[in-house]
Amino acid sequence: MAVQVFTAVTGAGWESELVGALDRDAHGVTVVRRCVDVAELLAAAATGTGQAALLSAELRRLDGEAVARLHAAGVAVVGLVEPGDEVAAQRLRQLGVSQVLPADADAEVIAAALRDAVAGVPDAGRDVADPRAALPVLVEPEEPLARPEGRGRVVAVWGPTGAPGRTTVAVGLADEAARLGAGTLLVDADVYGGVVAQVLGLLDESPGLAGAARLAGSGTLDAAGLARLAWAVRPELRVLTGLARADRWPELRPSAVATVLEEARRLAHLTVVDCAFGVEDDEELSFDTAAPRRNGATLAVLEEADTVLCVTGADPVALQRCVRGLDQLREVLPDVEPVLVVNQLRRGPVPGDPREEVAEALERFTGHRPRFFLPADRRATDAALAAGRTLAEVAPGAPLREALRGLAAELAGLRAPAPGRRRLVGRRRAG
Ligand SMILES: Nc1ncnc2c1ncn2[C@@H]1O[C@H](COP(=O)(O)OP(=O)(O)O)[C@@H](O)[C@H]1O
Ligand SMILES: [Mg+2]
Repeated sequence: MAVQVFTAVTGAGWESELVGALDRDAHGVTVVRRCVDVAELLAAAATGTGQAALLSAELRRLDGEAVARLHAAGVAVVGLVEPGDEVAAQRLRQLGVSQVLPADADAEVIAAALRDAVAGVPDAGRDVADPRAALPVLVEPEEPLARPEGRGRVVAVWGPTGAPGRTTVAVGLADEAARLGAGTLLVDADVYGGVVAQVLGLLDESPGLAGAARLAGSGTLDAAGLARLAWAVRPELRVLTGLARADRWPELRPSAVATVLEEARRLAHLTVVDCAFGVEDDEELSFDTAAPRRNGATLAVLEEADTVLCVTGADPVALQRCVRGLDQLREVLPDVEPVLVVNQLRRGPVPGDPREEVAEALERFTGHRPRFFLPADRRATDAALAAGRTLAEVAPGAPLREALRGLAAELAGLRAPAPGRRRLVGRRRAG
């Protein structure tokens, strides 16, 4: 059966000719509706009568959300650009259109792209092996971070409700990775209100992640733009601050957040994302499946990340919350394999050896044995909060700081320096 196609091709004179040619010949496609704008295209997609959309880059109000909604409706998307317009092609790709062709391509070629898109075949014209090939001008003058050799890694720091220490771990992990030499970007993606700027003592008026998401939604975000939106705390540590007001969560569209992380991989060796706790898919509560979902951004981050850390506290209440949280995570994202980080480990709230007891309980109830343990270290965290600085700055010898450094070394694939030996070498030289 022929692929049923919606078209939304504007701007140029070739629309009717192209549609005629597509329809007339036996290319295996049938144009079922010619739409004049994005709204009509989305309405058509929602009817379920087509499998693909052919649209042009000049279409007004075309953004990442519209493309995401087409995909969500099961409609594959092929884009057309003016011949040679690489900027428009790049923009369409950033919006999530994987197949992009010049508008003067043969009807046969366009029809083949539509059929491929429906079959899920990636665009052959794009070098997927080297993501930098898609960005001809990289971040030469601006880029302060150690240039990633390939794609940078993304680590999501997530955890259940009850303040187990997600932000503490995210900030500590990013700071320590940067100190170990990895160009690092810390992203505050907490949709219930971000506090990373405050924790780091930044007087934040910057658009941060919401600004980056806005550019991503309009298809104009690149790594240089991302670098400009981020605070340079140090040359190797940049921070994309979060929502200053929790009620602005609709600004963090999931598709745009995913694009931001894609660009972050070009910019930084390691991207650490501080996430909100909620993962339940509130879509079912809404009759309008295209309505924005508060947890959508969190889910997008967890889906995009190479590693998802689940931070839990070490007392019985926290452990119970962790078990429930992991259940929920498995329901909505069954493919995500979280790495358990036990934070605030201390004697007292559980009997016996707390490390063994907690590990055993978590393994029994979640099937995951925790990989990292971070001690409770209130003195150190209080000193950091009071100064608006990181643990490495205010409490360099604190046990929590040492533990975070080990975590960073392992996640960034770097070796943590052995502090004792270094000091010894220094002394010998001095003496
Ligand atoms: N290992 C720890 N030892 C002592 N206090 C901690 C530790 N981890 C976090 N905290 C404190 O617990 C509180 C909540 O931590 P935070 O990182 O903001 O949690 P979340 O981001 O999960 O809500 C903060 O006051 C923080 O300083
Ligand atoms: Mg937090």
